[in-house]
Amino acid sequence: MTDPRVSAIAEELLTARKHAREVATHQQPALRLDGLVRAFHQGTRRIDVLKGASVDILPGQAVALVGPSGAGKSTLLHIAGLLETPDSGHVIVNGRDCSGMGDADRTRVRRVEMGFVYQFHQLLPEFSALENVMIPQLIRGRSKAQAADRARELLGTLGLSERLEHRPAQLSGGEQQRTAIARALANSPRLILADEPTGNLDPYTAEHVFEALLHLIHTTGVAALIATHNMDLARRMDRVLRLEAGALVEVQPLGVT
Ligand SMILES: Nc1ncnc2c1ncn2[C@@H]1O[C@H](COP(=O)(O)OP(=O)(O)OP(=O)(O)O)[C@@H](O)[C@H]1O
Ligand SMILES: [Mg+2]
Repeated sequence: MTDPRVSAIAEELLTARKHAREVATHQQPALRLDGLVRAFHQGTRRIDVLKGASVDILPGQAVALVGPSGAGKSTLLHIAGLLETPDSGHVIVNGRDCSGMGDADRTRVRRVEMGFVYQFHQLLPEFSALENVMIPQLIRGRSKAQAADRARELLGTLGLSERLEHRPAQLSGGEQQRTAIARALANSPRLILADEPTGNLDPYTAEHVFEALLHLIHTTGVAALIATHNMDLARRMDRVLRLEAGALVEVQPLGVT
């Protein structure tokens, strides 16, 4: 006869697992790309970059976007980030279809729900690390004190507590990139889009910046789509998507066919 305590624990575990599955299946994607098509015209030449790219990305997922140079990774990120519009297809952010939105609404979704990290950090050179992380919050209407607290907390998590007053030129490349990550997360977005965030760094620094980014994704539950040429880093994310002939293909983990 099984110990009733064991049965009770087993039951509890099964219920918890069922609940987790339900949450997972009902979870709304932070980002849904649906049938994105985009071509560029260069004189008489036409380049079909995206030919029906689709994917769902759930909260808390770190998703790598890989593919050779020119495959369309940046194009896809610009469209997902509502900076450009596709020829057809839909970008759905937290359940809202942004495809038909006007400029003002797109800007609002971008400011409120998204954070961006670029290969070249694009920090404001005349402001300190702390101020760079405060600025997007001030634009959103937070008080200076609140913005400074949040900026200090984020920069601290990223190991930059001793660099708050440094301007970008007084920071190393990796420190600048970590500041850019803190800035992207400053308004607690639901989605992070990053275009080769470690592409400009030496392998050692890239590793540290990547670890910090991954840690933040998993602890905050933000969803992230991260273009990278580094397959070692890509494989450590939750999923890897390859842009192949204009479509997104899920790359299976090593050893799984
Ligand atoms: N504004 C534009 N006008 C014309 N062609 C463009 C434009 N933007 C991108 N392209 C073309 O679209 C293709 C995809 O470019 P994209 O920058 O998205 O590639 P990528 O995958 O990000 O490459 P990389 O790994 O080198 O950054 C390229 O062939 C590029 O030349
Ligand atoms: Mg690119």
